[in-house]
Amino acid sequence: MHENNMLSINTSEMQHHIFLCCDQTKPKCCSKECGIASWEYLKRRIKELELETKIFRTKANCLRVCAQGPIAVVYPEGIWYHSCSPSVLEKILQEHLIGGEYVKEYVISQEKTNKHG
Ligand code: FES
Repeated sequence: MHENNMLSINTSEMQHHIFLCCDQTKPKCCSKECGIASWEYLKRRIKELELETKIFRTKANCLRVCAQGPIAVVYPEGIWYHSCSPSVLEKILQEHLIGGEYVKEYVISQEKTNKHG
């Protein structure tokens, strides 16, 4: 195989990856509009805070929790959050992704997430 055929991305600066349930085929955890509003907010804030190389973001169709959304999961910690409105996402950005402290009041217990795994 030629080296040029290898796909590579620069992940050296990446510190977190956040997946957000939004724009779902079957909206269950929140309305489609609500999920999209949160997604747009997350995109905008990551850009404004110049964190695009540090925080990767991915839109997920459904994260299998399907209640109290929008649902988000942050890696590498594997911390799940419920009720991710723009204001909660701001807290997650500031306190968890930048500050390193989980936003405990919105963390989904491990027991609930394991149920679907
Ligand atoms: S629809 Fe959002 S987690 Fe399933």
